[in-house]
Amino acid sequence: MINSSIDLFEDFFRNEPESTAFASGRVNLIGDHTDYNSGFVMPTPLSLGIEVSIRKTRTGFIEGKTELFKETKSEINSNADGTWLDFIKGAIKVFYEEFPNCSKKLEEGIQVAVTSNLPSGSGVSSSAALEIALLRAINKIENQNLSEIKLAKLAQKIEHKFIGTLCGLMDQMVVAKGIMNKAMFFDTKYEKTVNLSLFSNFEFLIVHSGSQRSLSRSLYNERRNECEEASKILNIENLRDAKFTMLDKLGGKLLKRARHVISENERVQICLNALQKNDNRTFGSKMYESHHSLSNDYEVSSELLDNIIKKAKLLNITGGRLTGAGFGGCCVFLTEKNSSKKIFKFLRADFKNLSLVDII
Ligand code: GLA
Repeated sequence: MINSSIDLFEDFFRNEPESTAFASGRVNLIGDHTDYNSGFVMPTPLSLGIEVSIRKTRTGFIEGKTELFKETKSEINSNADGTWLDFIKGAIKVFYEEFPNCSKKLEEGIQVAVTSNLPSGSGVSSSAALEIALLRAINKIENQNLSEIKLAKLAQKIEHKFIGTLCGLMDQMVVAKGIMNKAMFFDTKYEKTVNLSLFSNFEFLIVHSGSQRSLSRSLYNERRNECEEASKILNIENLRDAKFTMLDKLGGKLLKRARHVISENERVQICLNALQKNDNRTFGSKMYESHHSLSNDYEVSSELLDNIIKKAKLLNITGGRLTGAGFGGCCVFLTEKNSSKKIFKFLRADFKNLSLVDII
């Protein structure tokens, strides 16, 4: 259960909030590092998430309270400074840039309380959940015509301009638009989504490896640059249009990055088909292939994540892979319905720092 952000707000600010909103985290089932290459992804919302409560003030400050971070105050018009308050600064800026004719009530000062039961910095989109919850709460006060896709794009803008991660649109899109217990196939080029029922007799287990992601922002942006470099050499707009037959024009790490994107896009399409046919075997084997490619070609895994996935294979778990950007954080497994808790215990026998995040 998530703690109430209204209670936290009232305790800390000694006042009632004007607006409260929730956004869930997500797990990406397959298709990582493809979204900023205009490719395919298949995430699903988690039952965990982030709740925010807000109120306008006239202090010229952002005042924030979370259960996690210590920073509580920043001038509303100051530059991003690397603290979590940048999310609030960003949300206000991008919202009012998009809707310049609304009352702009929150531009003069804002109080925000945030509660979460989602692990942060772990590959389950705590950033996107915070961005979307903030934008939803602001919009409850300003009442503008905010479609789900616009909401997702504003959240992505916060990430690009205030946080510094040049992310794709997957996280913000599934957090804004995803439906619980449905996988969301997302063609990022045409911005088309299809919701699909999950397996009838299999479930997804999401586990935290116990290691936080390290250096993930700079390495993430570096991977994105490498993909752009590879596209230039191949003379294509982006790696969505790359083919295996073009790979001989590339060498070294650019070849590996492009090979991951081409093969991962194929796997997502195969998994779309497998899910529609309730074929968990194929889906699971593509998850393992995806992990192998993320580890060897895209080089975003870690020894710990690789060992966890190796163990899952030994245990004959149907599928397993790291999920999200990588460099530590969470893994997702496909396993028979109602077997997740048992599987988790088996895994934890070897990896003491594992924790169970969610079962979908
Ligand atoms: C992060 C980004 C997403 C996506 C994944 C990797 O979660 O926010 O846009 O690129 O990494 O698939």
